Amino acid sequence: MLPSEKSIMPSNPDYPGLQSPTATLPASWYLDPDQFERELDAVWYRHWHYVCRAEDIANAGDYRTVVIGNQNIIVLRDETGHLKAYFNTCRHRGSILLTEESGKLDKASRILCPYHRWAYSSQGDLLATGTGTPPAGFSRAEYGLYSLPIDEWSGFVFINLDAHYATALADSFDEYSVSLANWPLTDVRRGDTFETVLNCNWKLFWENFNECLHCPNLHPDLCSVVPIYKRGIMEAFDDPDWRPGSSDEPALAGGIADDAETWSWGGRSTGHHFSELTEQERRTGHHYAMLLPSMFIVGHVDHVRTVQLRPLSAVKTHLRADWYFPQAALDDQTLDISHFTSFAKQVIDEDGRAAELNQQGLTNRAHAQGSLMAEEYDVHRFQQWVRQCLQSHTTSQAPR
Ligand code: FES
Ligand SMILES: [Fe+2]
Repeated sequence: MLPSEKSIMPSNPDYPGLQSPTATLPASWYLDPDQFERELDAVWYRHWHYVCRAEDIANAGDYRTVVIGNQNIIVLRDETGHLKAYFNTCRHRGSILLTEESGKLDKASRILCPYHRWAYSSQGDLLATGTGTPPAGFSRAEYGLYSLPIDEWSGFVFINLDAHYATALADSFDEYSVSLANWPLTDVRRGDTFETVLNCNWKLFWENFNECLHCPNLHPDLCSVVPIYKRGIMEAFDDPDWRPGSSDEPALAGGIADDAETWSWGGRSTGHHFSELTEQERRTGHHYAMLLPSMFIVGHVDHVRTVQLRPLSAVKTHLRADWYFPQAALDDQTLDISHFTSFAKQVIDEDGRAAELNQQGLTNRAHAQGSLMAEEYDVHRFQQWVRQCLQSHTTSQAPR
């Protein structure tokens, strides 16, 4: 073994590292528009997607429109206070119905088609056919809006493009997601938002998210707040020689630096901490729940952050991040919330730049496939998930 090579003969029995050469996904999967369409069908149109907070559509008639892939969806609060989701398509000749990203329906809570004025109730029923005369035998009851599954979890609203989805929302979070039960997710409120378009395939975001080999190189400020990241790993058990209980030192055991409290410049918190967190949750400093393929939520001691993706094309991905705080922090005139949110914005920029560099290199025709390092076991797990989604979709589409 060369002196610069690390041992991957683990004495740590829980070591999850890859033990043999493992190929990445083919480079063409990050470039090919046909592959992108396959992934929309097999991945994006089969899972739950976070669309907005419940308070974004708090009152009857409030709506949002959301584009996922090439599907346009309306989410709204109906006149009885329930959440509803519909394809944004008129049942007459198929015009789009609502063209704004957000708004409020008219006083009667109707959705009016801008083309020939068919009118729908907020519960999706066809009320009137505008200037068109319904011929004999036409039944309005058969021409309600195309509805979609919608559900709410802890103040977050989700939709599913598959009416026959396989898994309930509450069971759809990644198996290694932590419980955020001690965070008052329903009560927090948005303090800041950041949106950008990344020039990369959506999978490159998740691959970067799932490893920290790049952390010492790309995230020096974050490594000061989370010392174990300086070692290119995320958790103590990522070290092949780790033994449980052998050290509380954050550089070895993981978690936030001894002189830090949260993800911010210098680790300083707003002072408005969530009161129900355990000592362990405070020391760890960041707790992740992931809902592939579209979002993750991370709970910190004083705020909650969400990051959500929308695939725009094989080589473009929309990213939105939101920061949520207790109302008391937002009301605190002594605080500049942007001081706290700018820290993670820098991390998002650093990661976005990495994903874009990755995309640029994948274009060159000499590169067909890469090879993962031991620490990239979660990249492999993500790539296997993509492969399985495609495989099970192909199987379900096979002629019987
Ligand atoms: S397409 Fe909507 S009313 Fe004609
Ligand atoms: Fe990163």
